[in-house]
Amino acid sequence: MRIDELICPVCGEELCVFEKSLKCANGHCFDIAKEGYVNLLSGKHKSGSMYGDNRKMAFNRRSFLSRGFFDLLGDYLAERAVSLKPSVALDVCCGEGWYSDKILRKTDVSLYGFDLSKEMVRLAAKRKLDASFFVANISRIPIRSASVDFAFHLFAPWQGEEFARILSDDGIFITVFPGSHHLFSLKKLIYEKPYLNDEKLPEDSGLVLERKEKLSGKIFLEGREEIESLFAMTPYYYHTSSEDMAKLEKLETLETEIEFVVGEFRKAKNVEG
Ligand SMILES: C[S@@+](CC[C@H](N)C(=O)[O-])C[C@H]1O[C@@H](n2cnc3c(N)ncnc32)[C@H](O)[C@@H]1O
Ligand SMILES: [Zn+2]
Repeated sequence: MRIDELICPVCGEELCVFEKSLKCANGHCFDIAKEGYVNLLSGKHKSGSMYGDNRKMAFNRRSFLSRGFFDLLGDYLAERAVSLKPSVALDVCCGEGWYSDKILRKTDVSLYGFDLSKEMVRLAAKRKLDASFFVANISRIPIRSASVDFAFHLFAPWQGEEFARILSDDGIFITVFPGSHHLFSLKKLIYEKPYLNDEKLPEDSGLVLERKEKLSGKIFLEGREEIESLFAMTPYYYHTSSEDMAKLEKLETLETEIEFVVGEFRKAKNVEG
């Protein structure tokens, strides 16, 4: 497990491997789990209602992504990594590690990935990639300031100040949000008045938008399992009535749009780190 860019989440000191744990000079100690990941949530950030995505969501995400439905986006990211040639990459809110996997098939970048959900990180670590996965909160990323030159952040909460802090002066931060028509045919099936997604990228004084692209395609799902794994991966899963849900249960096939807005940011000149 590479740990050069990791810092202690409690005191910010560097970490060393000590037997089966990571330890800092002040005695803060974090066990390395048998799957090879480490939980770097410090006491203060451990508590609260948010624990990230649960086990079911983690398995649904894996099941859906492994079928290649988002290859358009995974391949695009991997190509960006190939052309930018970074030395240290960070998968922010990595989920079950599918995008990290894609990138490591094309590059030999030193890669870190973290998520608040232990279930997600456990699945990512089980991929046995040449990467270091850890549990952490984006509100306080236990990564050395200015040490990452390729960070990617997909469908996840925003914490611009932290993102700017960890980015090196010539680093790139890539964020992906759903485009206006992402999964629109699925939404049309469930809702009477489906809404279009807002495509506005976040604005942050620490980050400067350098490039914006839109990727679009269509996917064709066959059978209940594929349709359910997609639906359970979306935010609609938790906000849909049983009546609306029943409409989906009758479906045997589904063709729907996929659309991604990709923003590339650089660190603003005035940010320290
Ligand atoms: C929609 S999923 C996207 C996962 C992954 N980027 C992907 O596209 O497969 C959002 C992820 O953000 C994580 N998450 C939510 N709040 C977080 C936080 N405060 N810190 C770190 N991760 C968080 C969730 O656990 C979940 O894995
Ligand atoms: Zn410490």
